[in-house]
Amino acid sequence: MQAAARAQPNIALIKYWGKRDTARNLPAVGSISVTLADLYTDMTVELEDGRGEDSLTVNDVAAPDLLPRVSLCLDSVLGDGRPAAVVRSSSNFPIAAGLASSASAFAALVVAATEAGARDFSQEELANLAGRTSGSAARSLFGGIVELHNDHDRVRIDTLLAAEDWPLRVVIAVTEPGRKAVSSGEAMEISRKTSPHYQRWLADQAYDLTVARDAVAARDFNRLGQIAEHNCLKMHTLMWASQPPMVYWNEATLACLYTVRDLQAAASPVFFTVDAGPQVKVICLDENEAAVRDALASTPGVSDVLVSGLGEGARPVTVS
Ligand code: PMV
Repeated sequence: MQAAARAQPNIALIKYWGKRDTARNLPAVGSISVTLADLYTDMTVELEDGRGEDSLTVNDVAAPDLLPRVSLCLDSVLGDGRPAAVVRSSSNFPIAAGLASSASAFAALVVAATEAGARDFSQEELANLAGRTSGSAARSLFGGIVELHNDHDRVRIDTLLAAEDWPLRVVIAVTEPGRKAVSSGEAMEISRKTSPHYQRWLADQAYDLTVARDAVAARDFNRLGQIAEHNCLKMHTLMWASQPPMVYWNEATLACLYTVRDLQAAASPVFFTVDAGPQVKVICLDENEAAVRDALASTPGVSDVLVSGLGEGARPVTVS
């Protein structure tokens, strides 16, 4: 039985950083994110007769290093006695470079595996299954602007606004398309164990979530931008103060932040966020997207600029 699914990455405006339960991969804090429309991962799962070995290709190239996480995710959806799977993944953007490719990949994987195995899970159950492998993947099961809540030993996702209710644009400055050296999972654990700012980060998150949730409800762009930039810089501060320090930025990352400050000084509604990688994501409105794209493209060290609107959650698609 074969099935396919498509999912888009999501970008957190109020970040998830740190785990409260590493065995079950449960996040230590809630988060708020936007699901993109134009960057995507397509995932095909073909279940074979009998119990052979799983296989994985990413953009048509065998990817044995990524296979263990994929196999674990398939186990959690289909159970331990499941048949072997041939998994094919393709993305239209750089993977493992801080562009949330694991979020789109594992969101698409749980949907494709559910369809291929004729299982019946709600979107919320699928979010929990995806979140076991990549915490942020839980959010990509849902579209628009979403909030992830911690609920005992599960996560719960609320849609704050549908994509069409506030058509924000996300402009991504790629400053280094290669893979990052330290995975976010590993870096989170280093922060939890060694950063002097970690407890304060946990304590302040509820306030940041409330401010952002209210700003989204009021469609208050400036308020959302201020709290999102603050939350992002706090997350990086706690990483920088970890031992060893986790610095995902490069010179071009910082140059992009100055570009955003210049745009803000010229009264453009625009704000930045940066995840566990050196790319800069800039959120703006439709009318200033072209100016933001041009400003980032001419920032020294930027190798590519990707643009996306907000989109829907992970869903099955017809196998081509
Ligand atoms: O889901 P993970 O393990 O890839 O971690 C995601 C961490 C950040 O992207 C930095 C923040 C977030 O909330 O997406």
